[in-house]
Amino acid sequence: MELAGRVAVVTGGASGIGRALARRIAAAGAAGVVVADRDAVGARRVADELGPAGLAVACDVADPDHAEALVAAAAARFGPVDLFCANAGVAVGRELGDPADWQAAMDVNVGAHVAAARALLPGWLERGRGAFLSTASAAGLLSQIGSAPYAATKHAAVAFAEWLAITYGDRGVQVACVCPMGVATPLLDRAGPAGDAVRAAGGVVEPDHVAALALEALREGRFLVLPHPEVAGFERLRAGDASAGWPGCGGCAARSWGTPERRADPGPVAILSEAPEPG
Ligand SMILES: NC(=O)c1ccc[n+]([C@@H]2O[C@H](COP(=O)([O-])OP(=O)(O)OC[C@H]3O[C@@H](n4cnc5c(N)ncnc54)[C@H](O)[C@@H]3O)[C@@H](O)[C@H]2O)c1
Repeated sequence: MELAGRVAVVTGGASGIGRALARRIAAAGAAGVVVADRDAVGARRVADELGPAGLAVACDVADPDHAEALVAAAAARFGPVDLFCANAGVAVGRELGDPADWQAAMDVNVGAHVAAARALLPGWLERGRGAFLSTASAAGLLSQIGSAPYAATKHAAVAFAEWLAITYGDRGVQVACVCPMGVATPLLDRAGPAGDAVRAAGGVVEPDHVAALALEALREGRFLVLPHPEVAGFERLRAGDASAGWPGCGGCAARSWGTPERRADPGPVAILSEAPEPG
């Protein structure tokens, strides 16, 4: 999808990857960008930067009603939504996490994506055009050491994005799914031991780099966006070797998928091939 003249919504648009997406979408000539965030002050700051194309909307994406409200706000100011960036996310839950962590991760990291699709699809299918950009994570393809709620809900986000693409791709609905490892944002800083595991697994990239790759994928009609290209190799290893099971120690998977010492010699293959033989 070309962005000139289009109308976009970016959730989590007040900070990090969402802010970078909002800036780049506006710079590409979008007619309107709704900057949606629970941080009302931050959302307004970003929307103000965008000039007449910016509109700040305060919302909590954990509430499924947020999606209809965002679509209506965008339509009232700019017209129907062409691109929805389901980007807001929470890195909550240490280790197994508690029920509140699970609820928050389910509601924000995947439930909000489902609510957005529910609000958008009727219009997109009628017009034969729409684009859904999901900010998932490399954790949704691999795992997240230190946080079960994050790992499981990001896998769900990837699965949901794939399902949307498979189901509606031939009816004009374009889907792209962004799966970075570390990105230099407040979320990574707040993620505690899980953030440390992410930093240990590979380089930390800038949010603007992620946004640029995501919008390039939208323009070129590609699905998977990997700001850390090595994730493609880790994913292939995981898919090809998962039947071997995982070594039974916390953190092995992160090391197997890419800490510097493991990558140096001989790389992720080593630990996977060290996994116990099945049976
Ligand atoms: N930073 C990383 O290392 C990294 C890596 C992979 C994926 N991601 C994903 O990128 C996305 C963006 O995160 P970021 O790294 O830019 O973090 P960030 O903290 O800079 O931005 C997240 C934004 O989402 C907003 N938000 C959170 N919960 C919300 C809610 N319930 N309703 C409305 N807004 C809400 C926050 O206020 C914040 O402005 C997330 O989905 C995250 O899981 C981040």
